[in-house]
Amino acid sequence: MKRLVDKLQGSGSLTAEEWKRLITVRDPEITEYLFERARTVREEYYGKDIYIRGLIEFTNYCKNDCYYCGIRRSNGKADRYRLTKAQIMDCCRAGYELGFRTFVLQGGEDGYYTDEKMTDIISSIKESHPDCALTLSLGEKSYESYKAFFHAGADRYLLRHETANEEHYNRLHPGSMSLAYRKQCLYELKEIGYQVGCGFMVGSPYQTVDCLVEDLLFMKELNPHMVGIGPFIPHHETPFAQRKAGTLAQTLVLLSIIRLMLPAVLLPATTALGTINPKGRELGILAGANVVMPNLSPVTVRSKYMLYDNKICTGDEAAECRFCLQRRMESIGCRIAVSRGDYKSQN
Ligand code: 5AD
Ligand code: FES
Repeated sequence: MKRLVDKLQGSGSLTAEEWKRLITVRDPEITEYLFERARTVREEYYGKDIYIRGLIEFTNYCKNDCYYCGIRRSNGKADRYRLTKAQIMDCCRAGYELGFRTFVLQGGEDGYYTDEKMTDIISSIKESHPDCALTLSLGEKSYESYKAFFHAGADRYLLRHETANEEHYNRLHPGSMSLAYRKQCLYELKEIGYQVGCGFMVGSPYQTVDCLVEDLLFMKELNPHMVGIGPFIPHHETPFAQRKAGTLAQTLVLLSIIRLMLPAVLLPATTALGTINPKGRELGILAGANVVMPNLSPVTVRSKYMLYDNKICTGDEAAECRFCLQRRMESIGCRIAVSRGDYKSQN
């Protein structure tokens, strides 16, 4: 099994059978070896630096109805909110003071924010903070919209593919959504010139080892700059309320595999990982992740952006999360970098 880890590190790839064996590895000696290799590769590219991204969850309205997501359209119990441009600018200003040099605007697919409104917000943020990177996470849009946002100054775009297997995709989403369009968006974003992030939930309902192999093969082909993965966690007001959450162990193994497959990738230890285990984010970093994304949203709206149950940090001020994460990263021998934290194309 160690030979498989070495092969992956050496070549960035495995056969389908080998991927399966590595994805399902549970032997503590092998997983520790895997984590250690992934940490070494992370350090070759990024040293001990962990990048922080200030997440601004600016709307929880969404026109989609994904079966796993707490802010899905059909959740009538969700208390909906939208941030004004002034509120978003305030979040950025406070975040800048705290050392953030990347802001992530994330929201549901909310028609209220027209292309005109978005490009205005984007160009204002870039005008006020020219030394910062701006990441968007707004879901599926047209090529023209993506282009307009890019020309307004957006640098990066996060759009998790959720699963690369079509049958699986259709079990997670209603018929109005398609994997083909999802993938098309990702390729278009790349073509436009964004740094692009894809990703999926670990342990989502109906996910099989074959699905995960397809996820890895898709990511190998897309060659994204960023990959976001975290455990699926049920939300009580969704069709998947009774489903089991993804596990810490499976998420850590996948983080390491992704680090070895895409050595320079920007890979967050996600809030969902911190939610299923109190040390989840630290363990994620120790398995090869190199990004954390604390919340910059106003405390008044935090508890409303509930994609899943028991989400951490919903009561904490931005500054508390910032310094909490700094302590956590230092406790494992890493440091938080005050920089844009761009992708390193080669070393
Ligand atoms: N558990 C974990 N992650 C979730 N997401 C949405 N709902 C859940 C859930 N119940 C993830 C999706 C989405 C990202 C913003 O959050 O992968 O792309
Ligand atoms: Fe939010 Fe620790 S990161 S309280």
